[in-house]
Amino acid sequence: MLDKARTLPVDQVFMDIEDAVAPLAKPQARKNIVAALNEGGYESKIRAVRVNDWTTQWTYSDVIEVVEGAGANLDAIMLPKVQTADQIIALDLLLTQLEKSNGLEVGGIGIEAQIENALGLINVDAIAQASPRVETIIFGPADFMASINMKSLVVGEQPTGYDTGDAYHYILMRILMAARAYNKQAIDGPYLQIKDVEGFRRVAGRSAALGFDGKWALHPGQVEAANEIYSPDQQDYDHAEMILDAYGYFTSASGGAKGAAMLGDEMIDEASRKMALVMAAKGRAAGLTRTQQFVVPE
Ligand code: GLV
Ligand code: MG
Repeated sequence: MLDKARTLPVDQVFMDIEDAVAPLAKPQARKNIVAALNEGGYESKIRAVRVNDWTTQWTYSDVIEVVEGAGANLDAIMLPKVQTADQIIALDLLLTQLEKSNGLEVGGIGIEAQIENALGLINVDAIAQASPRVETIIFGPADFMASINMKSLVVGEQPTGYDTGDAYHYILMRILMAARAYNKQAIDGPYLQIKDVEGFRRVAGRSAALGFDGKWALHPGQVEAANEIYSPDQQDYDHAEMILDAYGYFTSASGGAKGAAMLGDEMIDEASRKMALVMAAKGRAAGLTRTQQFVVPE
């Protein structure tokens, strides 16, 4: 898996020492991760390591071993089951000491905070602001479902009996609001039925529609769908670039210095420009190229 990850078209790889690693295997997992990071090959992606959460006996050893061993080849520590801002501060302090003692840039290693239980969710605003290192707020649906006693074992799918709305709507929106308020990325968590790519698409489509930035892939088979779902489609991307060009023209002196104008049958104004900026940035980041050009009206 560590080798395969080098070859995949993903934005980030994270290597796990938490729930995908049995307690007896954790010491060896730390060593494998340090060796893989130092061997390299992941440089085109964000490189993160998920350590164990602060309620276990492992967190400090995970962080120390990974940062001392491979801190120069690491972009972020993912902290699972974050419940309070203090837990972020504790990691921030430990990282600062490790960076100083290992000759690394202070503040260089980011923190990705996983929200996986009720206490974490109600504290998510404080968690997002607890350190400038926090880059990402991640939803951990499996642990979260366990934490709130949701009556289902199928992660991300609607629990049987909940026949109205989306059972995850509040949780996703709560995380998204904290992320947007404090300028963090909002990331959706795993979909465990790895052979069911349609299921992955369905669940990913919901958080993508709300505005989430991405989702975990547990298996290479989920990567293509994730890249597609969290990127704008060609039509929306073209439309966004058209709005930007048209609004730039209409607000200029030669376009009449208008605040609101018509693009075809659609009225566009400053708010349209803001929406278009988001869509265009995502499309450019995904490598889309435009297929339509704005033509100045006669
Ligand atoms: C991920 O860690 C999850 O619990 O869903
Ligand atoms: Mg979890």
